[in-house]
Amino acid sequence: MAFWNKKTPVEDFSGRVRHIAFIMDGNGRWAKRRSLPRKAGHARGAETFRRVIQYCHRLGIRTVTVYAFSTENWSRPQDEVAAIMQLLDRFMEEELQDADTRDMRVVFLGDKAALTPAQRERAEEIERRTRDKSYCLNIALNYGGRDELVHAANILLAQGKGSVTAADISSALYTAHSPDPDLIIRTGGDYRISNFLLWQSAYAEYYFTKTLWPDLSEREIYRALKDFCSRHRRFGGLDPEDMKEKE
Ligand code: IPE
Ligand code: IPE
Ligand code: MG
Repeated sequence: MAFWNKKTPVEDFSGRVRHIAFIMDGNGRWAKRRSLPRKAGHARGAETFRRVIQYCHRLGIRTVTVYAFSTENWSRPQDEVAAIMQLLDRFMEEELQDADTRDMRVVFLGDKAALTPAQRERAEEIERRTRDKSYCLNIALNYGGRDELVHAANILLAQGKGSVTAADISSALYTAHSPDPDLIIRTGGDYRISNFLLWQSAYAEYYFTKTLWPDLSEREIYRALKDFCSRHRRFGGLDPEDMKEKE
């Protein structure tokens, strides 16, 4: 298990990574390997989530987004969904306690209509009370990239727009307040995006790892960030040294 110690690598990434996002996958398999119920995997995953957020904060990364629950995850057995929602309730309670002392804006990405009225109220209170903080934690909850685009289209239609620009769409997304993600890390060994940040990830870099989410260590996040920093992002252009063709 990962833990904080003197050897945990710390470096300031603030100038190189503005936004890191995580597809937190593999909780169920983590539990299954230990013959535990899937909800035990989610409970352990929630601890990893707290560690990861603290670590990214320590590395100076301003925006962190986590994929906590998708629009498709409702199709899981009811007791598993209930266990995840219980963990969410606990997180929101803690958040409300810490809201005034921590420098962390919390925003929930997704349609809150599917939450209970109490959850919705808490989520909105957390968002309201943390609005002016400088670091940002986006929690994708009942989130789907397609759902987000449909929601954005409906906002723009309601504004009476006859035609729209890319900037209009970006500003109608749940992530309107955040830059596009630089790096998306997916744990759990699958190579897919599962309806996550479809619009925003146009030029994101990906890091896929077989590590199951509950086992994700600070060291591996650090490795992923170093790997990211060594990549050439060309955004469809060329590297500067190739811009002038040599004779
Ligand atoms: C990710 O872990 C957490 C959620 C989707 C809520 P999974 O529960 O998908 O774990 P695996 O993929 O079944 O191992
Ligand atoms: C992606 O994991 C969603 C979250 C991490 C919340 P899933 O386990 O739901 O994705 P699939 O089903 O493997 O694509
Ligand atoms: Mg999964």
